[in-house]
Amino acid sequence: MLTSNSLSLFFSISLSLDPIITRCSDCATGQASYICNLEDNLHAFQAEVAGLKELRSDLMSRVRIAEDEQQLKPLNQVEGWLSRAETLINDADQLIVQSPQHVENLCMGDCWSTHPRSSIKFGKKIAKKLQEVKDQKENGDFSDVASKPPLPSATERPSEPTVGLESNFNKVWSCLQKEQVGIIGIYGLGGVGKTTLLNQINNKFHDTTHDYHVIWAVASQDRPIERVQDQIAERIGLSNEGWKSKSLDEKAEGIFQVLCKKKFALLLDDIWEWFDLTRAGVPLPTQQNGSKVIFTTRRLDVCCQMQPNMDNNIRVECLPPGKAFKLFEEKVGSETLRMHPDISKLAEAVVEECAGLPLALITIGRAMASKKTPREWEYAIEVLRQSAASVLPGVGKEMYPKLKFSYDCLPDERFRSCFLYCSLYPEDYLIDDDELVDCWIGEGLLDEHTYLRNARNQGHFIIGSLIDACLLEKGPYGRVKMHDVIRDMALWIAGESENERFFVKSGVQLKEQPKAKKWEEVTRMSLRKNQIENLTEILECPNLRTLFLSSNDLKVIMDDFFNSMPMLRVLDLFNNMNLEELPVGIAKLVSLEHLNLSQTGIKKLPVELKALAKLKYLNLERTCDLKMIPQQLISSFSKLQVLKMEECGYGCLLVLEEMEHLKYLNVLTLTFRSASELEKASRFNKFFSCAIEHVSLQHFRDSRSLNIMALAKLQHLCVLSLSSCMDLEEVKIERNITEGAGCFHSLRSVTLSDCNHLRDVSWVIFAPHLEHLWIYGCIGLEEIISEEKLGEVAELKGNLNLFSKLKRLLLHRLPKLKTMYHHALPFPQLKQVCIMECPMLKKLPLNSNSAKGQRLIIEGKEGWWKDVEWEDESTKIAFLPTFIPRIIKG
Ligand SMILES: *[C@@H]1O[C@H](CO)[C@@H](O)[C@H](O)[C@H]1NC(C)=O
Ligand SMILES: *[C@@H]1O[C@H](CO)[C@@H](O)[C@H](O)[C@H]1NC(C)=O
Ligand SMILES: *[C@@H]1O[C@H](CO)[C@@H](O)[C@H](O)[C@H]1NC(C)=O
Ligand SMILES: *[C@@H]1O[C@H](CO)[C@@H](O)[C@H](O)[C@H]1NC(C)=O
Repeated sequence: MLTSNSLSLFFSISLSLDPIITRCSDCATGQASYICNLEDNLHAFQAEVAGLKELRSDLMSRVRIAEDEQQLKPLNQVEGWLSRAETLINDADQLIVQSPQHVENLCMGDCWSTHPRSSIKFGKKIAKKLQEVKDQKENGDFSDVASKPPLPSATERPSEPTVGLESNFNKVWSCLQKEQVGIIGIYGLGGVGKTTLLNQINNKFHDTTHDYHVIWAVASQDRPIERVQDQIAERIGLSNEGWKSKSLDEKAEGIFQVLCKKKFALLLDDIWEWFDLTRAGVPLPTQQNGSKVIFTTRRLDVCCQMQPNMDNNIRVECLPPGKAFKLFEEKVGSETLRMHPDISKLAEAVVEECAGLPLALITIGRAMASKKTPREWEYAIEVLRQSAASVLPGVGKEMYPKLKFSYDCLPDERFRSCFLYCSLYPEDYLIDDDELVDCWIGEGLLDEHTYLRNARNQGHFIIGSLIDACLLEKGPYGRVKMHDVIRDMALWIAGESENERFFVKSGVQLKEQPKAKKWEEVTRMSLRKNQIENLTEILECPNLRTLFLSSNDLKVIMDDFFNSMPMLRVLDLFNNMNLEELPVGIAKLVSLEHLNLSQTGIKKLPVELKALAKLKYLNLERTCDLKMIPQQLISSFSKLQVLKMEECGYGCLLVLEEMEHLKYLNVLTLTFRSASELEKASRFNKFFSCAIEHVSLQHFRDSRSLNIMALAKLQHLCVLSLSSCMDLEEVKIERNITEGAGCFHSLRSVTLSDCNHLRDVSWVIFAPHLEHLWIYGCIGLEEIISEEKLGEVAELKGNLNLFSKLKRLLLHRLPKLKTMYHHALPFPQLKQVCIMECPMLKKLPLNSNSAKGQRLIIEGKEGWWKDVEWEDESTKIAFLPTFIPRIIKG
């Protein structure tokens, strides 16, 4: 260190030295030349050391400026030079301090007398150091003292300890190791832990050795490319004064120039739409250069756009109950949970309401951390069950707004209304997507379409978008589900909204209708899944458009009940088996478009229903007691598009003729109870047959053999069931059948039950798009596809593609079933097989190539599974892990 102290010391010494040195001026060469030259040397030495000190001081200021003002890092050679200079200066200063002593010694005698050894040595030292100082000074001429700092390979990010993300982490990390994978997507619900996962990936990079330059950037809704560019620039040392004024393309160019020479891993958090890497200047990752891009998004469609291979798009799921509890416990503190024996039990109920969503577990966990009495916990459960969690701290102000972002990003009001509508269904409810769309249509949420099919297509498009936004989840069998927390948020939004007012008390054990008050603003009301018996008070709801009363214990609806809801468009009374009568007052619902009476106990339809001139949808499915439909009632619904009469007690033949008058009829479901009924129906015109979507054949008594070719021609038939056709032995296949439009073109689902004499179901080979096959209680069934029958048509059908679309197969209680098919089949789509009580079925039509790449599950009893005979060892090895033992309930 060059301090002012050592400087002043140096000057004071040199001043005092001067007169002494001059006194000893004529010294000669030889052994004693050091001594004789000491005077000169000391002079030169002092000067050189002073120069070195100045040089060092200048260099140090330059370094300091570079470091502080330009964020540069000193060059290693500069740092080395500075430290060597320091040592040298220290040494030199010591020598200079000692020098007066030696000069004194010299000047005591004359030049030729002998001098103390130590002084000779000293003279040598001075000469040597003089040279060193000179050399050091010469090396000290640096044009640059500092440079840009090198990129650290990854910077650690703050991350909370995480619960339950390990398996997701491993998935992403192992995906990263694959050479051929360049882009990886992480998607899932808001609040499910995607960013946390990305943080973990970043920190894993930080903790391991690798050759990536890891760059973290958060995209945003607003100008995502610019924002990401700035963050990348910051990270790779591009952002300087000029950076801000550059255009997007110039920035891209700059970024590209740096990144194309590097192996990088770009961690891109929270993108909301397709992110154009190239436009941002990020070179596309290739196998050659091994770079990676890992991004997170709430949108499934964005994943597919970024990178279509779904193996590399990883969904972050909600936590399973055990892990959910662990995370919750972490936030709430185990001390609180131990405060009272009841609290930990109550905590489980709270955790259940969070449905595994980490954001909810964390927010509500924090909210409950200070609640130490069971009463407070009971209150929390109450509000959670009532979807009123927004009263808890952190929920209404922080959590919902965070989640709501996905909602705000929906394309328009229509999508938002459709989304909110789903919250009318109870918690955890699997919503049939066609039913949902039909309600939207009834409500008028979709565009007016002449053809129902077009309207339904629009509806399914919206459902798809909601699934893409992770606001709805896909369930099995074309159903959708709303996550509990998302549903609560939807109700919260509907509660805050100006133009939508919902009243939802669904699945909360209501025993009576809510007390009469004026529901001026309520637009939708759901009282689904309660225990309401009688509706005896008028509901004044002038703006009500949808009323769900399904799954109650309704017995009596008083006549005037519907008097004050003139706007009602959707009325759902589904699943009220004790409701035997519709009030005449239902005629007041002149706006009604959608009426669901399925699974009610009604015995007749009142003729007053004629007043419902706008009715488009009428559901009478499984109204077994319905024995009377007034004549000319059905035909009076001139706008009717959907008529569902499957398993309706009233024979369909009785209204078939009237249906001919329904110009807009698009969807029809029917049950035939005899072969002659079926035959008569098949004579009706083509337009009518176009509408048929579901058909069930029930209780056939009059025939042993059935020709179903009339059904094969129904273009839109998608669900077919045969049940309790006790005498039926055979369903005929015609030799001359041709493939194509004539042949079960749309059939996706077939159910056969309790047809005791049926021996095979070979006719399903004519349903090329069959996805679900369920057969149960057919005690005479021996084979599914009969080899013999197939032989009869084989020459006509070279390429069968048998079961090429089959996804689910259920075989239950088929005591004589021996074979499904005599050869192994590829089953390229098969996902689930369940086989119960089929003791003779020992061989499955599988080989080691079957169901390749599918995550097949085979369920059954362990005893049966042990005895299954396999084609070969490799087949056995392939399928053993697919098995899940199933225990019969009840
Ligand atoms: C990586 O690949 C991209 C695209 O082919 C290319 O532009 C870039 O220069 C490559 N970078 C390296 C380091 O090879
Ligand atoms: C209407 O009836 C069907 C049964 O056909 C049922 O599944 C559905 O949930 C009911 N309600 C609505 C609103 O779709
Ligand atoms: C509903 O009405 C029926 C028939 O009038 C009656 O027997 C029953 O007790 C009523 N239920 C309730 C809960 O009031
Ligand atoms: C098929 O054969 C049946 C009689 O076996 C006949 O009635 C029917 O018209 C034939 N259909 C075609 C498409 O040739």
